[in-house]
Amino acid sequence: MKNAMRLDKLIASQTTLSRREARQRILSGRVSVNTEVCRSIDASVMPQQDTVLLDGQAIGYQPFVYYMLHKPAGVLSASRDRRATTVLDLLHECDRTRPLFPVGRLDKNTTGLLLLTDDGMMAHRIISPKSGIEKEYSVTLDGPVTDDMVKRFAEGITLTDGTVCASAGLTALENCRARVILTEGKYHEIKRMFGVCGLGVNQLHRMRIGHLWLPDDLPVGEYRPVSAKELSESVFC
Ligand code: URA
Repeated sequence: MKNAMRLDKLIASQTTLSRREARQRILSGRVSVNTEVCRSIDASVMPQQDTVLLDGQAIGYQPFVYYMLHKPAGVLSASRDRRATTVLDLLHECDRTRPLFPVGRLDKNTTGLLLLTDDGMMAHRIISPKSGIEKEYSVTLDGPVTDDMVKRFAEGITLTDGTVCASAGLTALENCRARVILTEGKYHEIKRMFGVCGLGVNQLHRMRIGHLWLPDDLPVGEYRPVSAKELSESVFC
């Protein structure tokens, strides 16, 4: 059966239940498929077509989930770490049932917009330099940005290890602040690019991915779901 899925797997993937708990619900007659009670733990369903109810409540089907997080400083962009708090630790228990991961990385002390998902293809499209998706950062430096730096960023900075960065947008602002627009995400890229120009980065904050802006009303450390449609329209358009 094309796109068929085990019933217990579907229930576990769309609820906070484990597969074992889902199987128990099925065995005890609490699950129906297209109005018929289904007690078979081996049953398969077509998630996008069949109507599955658990205790009379519809189990919707979302193949992937997406969240936008306002990442605080001091939190690792990783799925798991033995010692440090990771961005996934910021999610409520009920939102941690899927194998989520951050889309790209922000340094531990970088704040701002970070996407979390379990959709590897979408993540790849957002991160890949080939997609050319802009990421915009607000930067506070330990000195002023010069016209020469703006030119060097536009030409593509060569880092101390010989790595050549893609052309980046640099706009000088008042009080040693600047805006940087990247289309790739090399390790510590902004810090290293400014390092080559003799400036240190005091603060780094990501404001935008594609056309998706960090909402003003999303507090630091909080997150909200984004639909696949919203993400496609705002990131890729
Ligand atoms: N560049 C950096 O140096 N750090 C980040 O977190 C993101 C871009």
